[in-house]
Amino acid sequence: MLKQLNKLRQTALAEIQQSLSLDLLKKLETKYLGRKGELTKILRQVKDLSAEKRPQIGRLANKLKTELQQAIAQMTNKLTGQRPEGSVNLDPTTPGQKIPRGHLHPISQFIKQIEDVFGSMGFEVFGGSEVETEEYNFNLLNFPKNHPARDIQDTFYIQHPDQKIRTGGKQLLLRTQTSPMQIRIMEKKKKPPVRSIVLGRCFRHEATDAGHETTFYQCEGLVIDKKIRITDLIGILQTVLRSIFGKQAKIRVRPSYFPFVEPGLEVDMGCLICGGKGCPACKQKGWMEMLGAGMVHPNVLKNMAKLGGNQWNPQEYSGFAFGMGIERLAMLYYGVDDIRLFYSGDLKFLKQF
Ligand code: DAH
Repeated sequence: MLKQLNKLRQTALAEIQQSLSLDLLKKLETKYLGRKGELTKILRQVKDLSAEKRPQIGRLANKLKTELQQAIAQMTNKLTGQRPEGSVNLDPTTPGQKIPRGHLHPISQFIKQIEDVFGSMGFEVFGGSEVETEEYNFNLLNFPKNHPARDIQDTFYIQHPDQKIRTGGKQLLLRTQTSPMQIRIMEKKKKPPVRSIVLGRCFRHEATDAGHETTFYQCEGLVIDKKIRITDLIGILQTVLRSIFGKQAKIRVRPSYFPFVEPGLEVDMGCLICGGKGCPACKQKGWMEMLGAGMVHPNVLKNMAKLGGNQWNPQEYSGFAFGMGIERLAMLYYGVDDIRLFYSGDLKFLKQF
């Protein structure tokens, strides 16, 4: 009887699994489990077995009965496309998986803030090209021919096999400063009055450290009109720095040299970390260098007028210019002590802003 049971199990399961219709399944159910079914017959005979065989065969036959019932139920579900009992139901109202959202880079956020401050004072915002010619980056800005900034150590010069065809032989470079836009703005606007800022990336061939990156943003300002004085420059800068850093921001100006301004100034801001007492961040000076500025040099005014088509007399106009490093300001603003963190692509850092 044991053999009979095993054989029945094999054929019955195979038939159930291969059945392709509910009709056939019904027939198989009758064939094996019906009133006169093959397994039913065996189950009926169990009571006639000897006392030692009865429990074993009885258990096996009953087990096979459950097995066949389950196999038939499973196959029925498969054929009717129903989900098996006990499986998790799909809930279409469950909220979807959250896709993490990015946000503007801290430097982009800071740039927007600067744009807003200058915008509110009526300044026009320019961007400009990151690839410049030596002419605009240096010559037209009154840089002497042998100025050290032109040195290969500071400037990324671009050599292109088609340079002659593409640029008419002009030397290309990655702009080292946003100042060439001073000339380009006047060339485009043709004549004063002009009140503008330039926000864009600059490049220098330098070793990086906590305070220097090879790629960085500058904000360049240019104002040209009649009767523009150095006090206008100082007033504007004070207003801008106070609106970014708060009323406690103090500035001072020191004489400095930049070829395209005369006189040239360096603007410092009272150290916000120590309140002016002196600390490692300000090298114990109580002041931090913030930007370069000055009154536009007469030679540069002449170049501007010439490229704009000589529609104004550079002797009747004056102007001021300034240039500030965005990351330096942003470091003070956010309290970041290493400029390289901004471009490290480290999400742990970026998510804080
Ligand atoms: N271009 C200068 C630099 O990169 C910064 C600067 C100084 C810009 C004085 C100006 C200026 O417009 O007047 O170091």
